[in-house]
Amino acid sequence: MYMVRVSGLLEDFGEWPIDGAEERPGETWVYFSNRVVAGSFAKAHSSKTERARWEVNLAWQEEWVAKPVGARWWIAPDGDDVVPEGRHRLGMRKGLVFGAGDHDTTCGCLEMMERIDFSGKRVFDLGTGTGILSEAAKVLGAASAIACDLEADAAKMAHERGVSAYQGPSFAMPDGRFEVLLVNVPGYVHLDLAPEYSRLLQGDGMLLLSGYYEWQAERIEAALPEFQKLDQIVRGDGWVASIFSHARATASSD
Ligand SMILES: C[S@@+](CC[C@H](N)C(=O)[O-])C[C@H]1O[C@@H](n2cnc3c(N)ncnc32)[C@H](O)[C@@H]1O
Repeated sequence: MYMVRVSGLLEDFGEWPIDGAEERPGETWVYFSNRVVAGSFAKAHSSKTERARWEVNLAWQEEWVAKPVGARWWIAPDGDDVVPEGRHRLGMRKGLVFGAGDHDTTCGCLEMMERIDFSGKRVFDLGTGTGILSEAAKVLGAASAIACDLEADAAKMAHERGVSAYQGPSFAMPDGRFEVLLVNVPGYVHLDLAPEYSRLLQGDGMLLLSGYYEWQAERIEAALPEFQKLDQIVRGDGWVASIFSHARATASSD
């Protein structure tokens, strides 16, 4: 369970999927079973309350242990530097920026990236978080990986990882600029961004999507009429990672 302390009463903070709350003099302790939601809540209200007045219990990050993902990756926390032969180490970055490598959507993306030909490709990582997918794309032979995130902390962390990241939306990028697009964002964001995927990708580009549940897939795919689904995996509680081709006519269906 993750706890966020905020100044004020619960009704001051809008509707969130909370799992419990304790109102105390001048502040409320809000509990979440989902740490991503806890982090989003804390970040969303950081400007409405004094920074010192909110905190998230990040204790679970102390329990991270190194693990294999797919055939290529070794996700490991700081200080754990032993890497099995044939695997590439991707470091787990602590903090509130999403993309440490502990979540099924990130792992699903990494696993599916092994099935995409990145050699010499121009890649865009939309919603990069810690920059983990951009790092992986370069390991897999991408010519370049550009990343963006709306969050300043994410762009900064991705930079620290050696990724060319900027803070801001994808709209800054020109039409048809990329050959592979990586997007791990919540389902409703895919619905908003779907026209961007066609615009950013060149004609026969590849699109890797994650961040949504199996039950949301039909609606998201319907918002992508210019794409053909080629491959899909489902991990954990029903998190999807899917590969689409922008070339409808030449793609095969699964
Ligand atoms: C679920 S995290 C994924 C992080 C990382 N790519 C991974 O796979 O682990 C989604 C990230 O996308 C960012 N984001 C959400 N909507 C966005 C948008 N419209 N444009 C850019 N970034 C966005 C969030 O700030 C967050 O850091």
